[in-house]
Amino acid sequence: MTCPQCYTRNTTGRHYCASCGYRLPYACVRCSFLNDPHDRFCGGCGTSLPIHSPSNVDTKVVTALTDPLVNTSSVTVGERSRVEQPTIASPSLTGDERKTVTALFADLKGSTALIEGLDPEEARALIDPALQLMMDAVHRYEGYVAQALGDGIFAVFGAPIAHEDHPQRAVYAALRMQEEMHRYSNEVRLTHGVSLAMRVGVNTGEVLMRSIAKGDFRTDYVPVGHATNVAARMEQMATPGSILITEHTKKLIEHNFELNMLGAAHIKGVDAPLNVYEVVGAGPRHTRLHVAARRGLSRFIGRQVELQQLQTALAHAKAGQGQTVHVRGEPGLGKSRLFYEFKRFPHGCAVLETAAVSYGSTSPYLLVVELLKPYFQMQPQDDDRTRRERVIGKVLGLDRHLEDTLPYLFALLGMHDTPSPLEHLDPQLRHQHICDAVTRLLLRESRNQPLILIVEDAQWIDPESHAVLDTLCDSLASTNVLLLVNARPEYRHAWGHKPYYTQIEMTPLGLAETETFLTHLIGTAEGLSLLKQHILSKTEGTPFFMEEVVHTLVEERVLTGERGHYHLAQAVTDLHISPTIQGVIAGRIDRLTPEEKLLLQQLSAIGRSFPLALARRVIAQPEDELSRILSALQRKEFLYEESALPTATYLFKHALTQEVAYNSVPIERRKTLHLQTAQAIEQIFHNQLEDYYRVLAHHYSKSGQTEKAMNYLLRDLRTAWFTSLDRSLPAE
Ligand SMILES: Nc1ncnc2c1ncn2[C@@H]1O[C@H](COP(=O)(O)OP(=O)(O)OP(=O)(O)O)[C@@H](O)[C@H]1O
Ligand SMILES: [Mg+2]
Repeated sequence: MTCPQCYTRNTTGRHYCASCGYRLPYACVRCSFLNDPHDRFCGGCGTSLPIHSPSNVDTKVVTALTDPLVNTSSVTVGERSRVEQPTIASPSLTGDERKTVTALFADLKGSTALIEGLDPEEARALIDPALQLMMDAVHRYEGYVAQALGDGIFAVFGAPIAHEDHPQRAVYAALRMQEEMHRYSNEVRLTHGVSLAMRVGVNTGEVLMRSIAKGDFRTDYVPVGHATNVAARMEQMATPGSILITEHTKKLIEHNFELNMLGAAHIKGVDAPLNVYEVVGAGPRHTRLHVAARRGLSRFIGRQVELQQLQTALAHAKAGQGQTVHVRGEPGLGKSRLFYEFKRFPHGCAVLETAAVSYGSTSPYLLVVELLKPYFQMQPQDDDRTRRERVIGKVLGLDRHLEDTLPYLFALLGMHDTPSPLEHLDPQLRHQHICDAVTRLLLRESRNQPLILIVEDAQWIDPESHAVLDTLCDSLASTNVLLLVNARPEYRHAWGHKPYYTQIEMTPLGLAETETFLTHLIGTAEGLSLLKQHILSKTEGTPFFMEEVVHTLVEERVLTGERGHYHLAQAVTDLHISPTIQGVIAGRIDRLTPEEKLLLQQLSAIGRSFPLALARRVIAQPEDELSRILSALQRKEFLYEESALPTATYLFKHALTQEVAYNSVPIERRKTLHLQTAQAIEQIFHNQLEDYYRVLAHHYSKSGQTEKAMNYLLRDLRTAWFTSLDRSLPAE
């Protein structure tokens, strides 16, 4: 296996490169397809792949992770995330990057009083647990601790690996820190008579993520930018025990948390006063569609074929032929909206729903637990006894033969007997019994009334819940269950060969549908048709992106008036990408391997469409390596080959992907790439340079070479003028 990072040839079976420590792709033993290290099933033949444990992992953690009943008391989710997210510790190939992140500062108030009169080592023994719980909270939500200060930390969410919901993660982490700190502070008050409290400040904005390679093949990341200073300022303004956020973060999280508006504050380096909010607590978890529904859903357009497919599957399920339908598609195409519309038909069925959360893939059984809680009508305020009674009542009321499932359901729902009757059971067997218990319960329920089970966002499912779905799916053939799963393309499962399985591929809305969609969203006022064309060319029929672009235009007061009846208040110079779109696309880009991501960033500066010959000249990489990475980017649907003849030309599948990749490249590196592109065009196309005058002007202007840019622009204008003159002359 050749290392994608340093091109060293490694012997078969290695998980890490012998020369640079880079995590190697995994070749399937059956079909040799190269899979990403974290893939669970082979992309070539669907074979289940072995789990690769990274070499630098604490064996205690790995052992505990194989225990399906593991909970946060024996191994923290933070530890588990670190185990399963080795990418963060892997060396950076792409160098510095511009990123939109959420920065968090936390520090301890009262530490000086605490350490007064204490031996330094004793003081450390008291402060270290506080720092540790701050870091654990960050890791739990897959943030990155950029710096551990004397009595506090500085962390970022959304970098080095982008997460589309980084503001939510940061605020959940802040709340968890405060909760844990409260507990710890009570302990310290009893033992040392000192009270400890923590202040937390959060802000969202763009930073330059500097990557500093260390000698041990690891990389440190340092966020640089004003957004981090503002977060630090929030922390300094917070009263002990509180969490302050700016309006930049508030705009992105407000539907998921309870907030108090504190007022506007003047912050050094920020022109206008900035609104500051205190986070009071977490609200109910809402999917993005729920949040969109609060804003008011757009008129539902198209998707009649897909709705019909769901109806057909339901008819089969009702007739005793259980069905699984997997709706697959890129973010924002309308997978959740399709289910939402389907649910509106009266079905005479029971419906149970659950959604995976992006930071939940390391929490065992989370998805199944979230499915069962409403089924058992469990409320957050219920004590253990009440919850237990609800489970017993429901299960035995359904069927007394299900009594033997109770210990497994209790264990699953975190109600542990002491001593537990499952304590000495082999972990693997225990896991299998849990899968069986849930399956038997749901199948029995479906005998009373057909059951529609909805699983949203399965790409984030935890492996244990995935196994429950596998067991359920294996048993569906003669039942009244319709299992509906939606997921983004990276989700893998092994149900494809089952006769009762249907896959629905979501594609962007067609041209006519997109126009109807935009007409309903914006209206028909004068001057809007050009804007609609502009939005259409940028968002290419993805409803979510269209909604976000329009929302940003309304916020920027380019559009005024009511939804569906907007007016153009100012000329549109550019369509700005909202942080939400940015986050979704950056998240996809960051799941690429470092070499794929680096290439994508380089190509984004060359242009949306580019001949292969040009890419070869600009990108310093052996030809076969370049072709291999281009194929991978095609396979992952970032690029496609527009034409192979007469010269191979590639195209970014989405204009927005090109833009987000380009925005992540630091300005100095962009300049170099533009200069290299311009020079390469001059060399390759010297015989037909007039076709490239405008493109050359663009690249030279972006590279900072204004004189050359002007020169080409003038040549382009002159050519255009002569051409129009030619056309206006009467033919001889
Ligand atoms: N056919 C449609 N007609 C009108 N609006 C739509 C349509 N499809 C999607 N939308 C709107 O676009 C937005 C995104 O849709 P949705 O949340 O269903 O996307 P998704 O594919 O589930 O994305 P994700 O992968 O991020 O969960 C929602 O506000 C939804 O109401
Ligand atoms: Mg969705």
